Amino acid sequence: MQVVLDYLKQNQTRFVAELCDYLRFASVSAQPQHKKDLRACAGWLVNHCKQIGLEAKICPTAGHPIVVARTKKRNGGRGGTPHFMIYGHYDVQPPEPLDLWKSPPFEPRIEGRSIFARGSTDNKGQNFAHLKAVEAYLKTGTPLPCDLTFVIEGEEEVGSANLAKFLKSHRRELACDAIVVSDTGMPDADHPALTYALRGIIAFEITLRGPSRDLHSGNFGGTVDNPAMALSQLLGRLRDKNGRVAIPGFYNDVAPLSAYERKAFKRLPTNDAGLRKLLGVKKLFGERGFTPFEQRSARPTFEINGLTSGYQGEGSKTIVPAWARAKITCRLVPDQDPVRIRKVVCNHLKKICPPTVRMEIEAGHGAEAYLVSPKSRQAQAALRALRQAFNREPVLLREGGSIPIVNDFKKVLGADTLLLGLGLPEDNAHSPNEKFNLDCFENGQRMSAFLWRELSRG
Ligand code: BES
Ligand code: MN
Repeated sequence: MQVVLDYLKQNQTRFVAELCDYLRFASVSAQPQHKKDLRACAGWLVNHCKQIGLEAKICPTAGHPIVVARTKKRNGGRGGTPHFMIYGHYDVQPPEPLDLWKSPPFEPRIEGRSIFARGSTDNKGQNFAHLKAVEAYLKTGTPLPCDLTFVIEGEEEVGSANLAKFLKSHRRELACDAIVVSDTGMPDADHPALTYALRGIIAFEITLRGPSRDLHSGNFGGTVDNPAMALSQLLGRLRDKNGRVAIPGFYNDVAPLSAYERKAFKRLPTNDAGLRKLLGVKKLFGERGFTPFEQRSARPTFEINGLTSGYQGEGSKTIVPAWARAKITCRLVPDQDPVRIRKVVCNHLKKICPPTVRMEIEAGHGAEAYLVSPKSRQAQAALRALRQAFNREPVLLREGGSIPIVNDFKKVLGADTLLLGLGLPEDNAHSPNEKFNLDCFENGQRMSAFLWRELSRG
């Protein structure tokens, strides 16, 4: 083990340079013009995996390709050897708005112990930490106590639909004892974390259509409904003064937080005033009766992600717009069923839509929430690895983001996912100036190195 740790320590400068190469690909899965960049990024990854001694291949899908890389089977494939999957994603969120970046999103910049680039924390830096740990085993000739398979996909940020299919058609090859994912967070650099719950999600777009074209607002304003106003009013009705989603039935299946959990959360290193400052808001806002930590990890939401209508250019233009559109996601918690919630929400929207506009609802991706016991043998092994790597006592978290595929891992492969995140709250995931902390990068490599030994024990 010491040679592995020494190898990691001695090679950090090169690892950071390689991570920069990885970050230079503009692998934005949501934007069709970047299709080639995703393909190139996957190609680079496959090459890199081969260089460090893995067997690697690029698996085309109907969308962006999946990279699968594995260690040589330990026992000649005769069984009896534990097998773990490391899942991550090489796709990234759109970098817009570009003018808010201090340096271009796909030209990595290092400042102090931070590396700035779109995808640095979410998720390239985090999955690269695992690759470097495995490289350390392979290049020092240290035998791994288990077989490992990396699955790094290109569609996580758009819902992982093609990976879900791939899992089903490759379930024999991917059968494993557990999946390890570093695509979550830690409360701060001194508190490594095991996340035992994630929120689910449903995404959709609402379009309200009024006149058949933009109209002169002087000629016709006042006699036709304004779709932008109608949409604003409609959306305004969906949240009550207590910060609850005002859609009948929305909360029906929400699993209440146990007194035990709520007490445990109180011991987490949270800081509401610090959060307010970090996020740049005058005052926090959320569902009454819950702490900010609970609101953003264990309570469902209805969120407007984008709102578009009318003239967006410079100066004024006097029109009644022909249409207005909102991009929406709801975060879900156990035991809300995404299919049922989608129906409940759509039916309510149609019910309250005024007769002066036509409503269209386009469905997007969806996923259930995830919840796994932090007491399992594997979770305990992961906590030991965190402790050894960070020299700090780890904490247990629930988090508010979603990783759609982890539910499929359980359903298709029957295996639990260990969420061992390396991101910090100030990393600006999905925001301008995304960054990754190089101490988290290095400790993450160490965590991965310890993990295979701990997970493979008896
Ligand atoms: N890394 C996140 C998931 C995450 C974020 C977990 C914060 C815990 C805390 C992941 O890359 C992500 O952003 N997922 C999307 C999924 C969606 C597009 C289906 C998300 O949560 O918005
Ligand atoms: Mn993300």
